[in-house]
Amino acid sequence: MVQEQAQVDKIVNKYRGDRSALIQALLDIQRENRWLPKDALKRVSQKLGIPLSQIYQISTFYKAFSLTPKGRHSVLVCLGTACQVRGAPRLLDRVTETLTIKPGETSTDMRFSLDTVNCLGCCALGPVMVVDKEFHSKPSTKEIEQIAAACE
Ligand code: FES
Repeated sequence: MVQEQAQVDKIVNKYRGDRSALIQALLDIQRENRWLPKDALKRVSQKLGIPLSQIYQISTFYKAFSLTPKGRHSVLVCLGTACQVRGAPRLLDRVTETLTIKPGETSTDMRFSLDTVNCLGCCALGPVMVVDKEFHSKPSTKEIEQIAAACE
């Protein structure tokens, strides 16, 4: 709690307590923690004088925010139309089998969080998987296992 307070205070102070900087402050907190801890949101509410319910509304509206802890490594599988046509459902099956988690889940050892997205803007490479912002085009099961093994 104390650590989260100090972190939030530093971030809010950076924006000089400007209420209109709420989303930017939440993005900063998300980036530092990989999620938005409840105590951090309470502190944001106190510091900016914005009702906690309003902060939760915003936090649940934007997909960039997570109200649950995320794994150390982010894994995204594109399920956009072009990737679907090129075999994204089979890629997703291979990824879920390798990581033993489903989309929207985080592994119990906090190593991976798996999510799906609709288009990453590189349709010609599909089906596409992104691990910690690194793009992988049409990865085989063996390549997925190697990529996962390289993630601590
Ligand atoms: S549909 Fe997957 S990158 Fe566009």
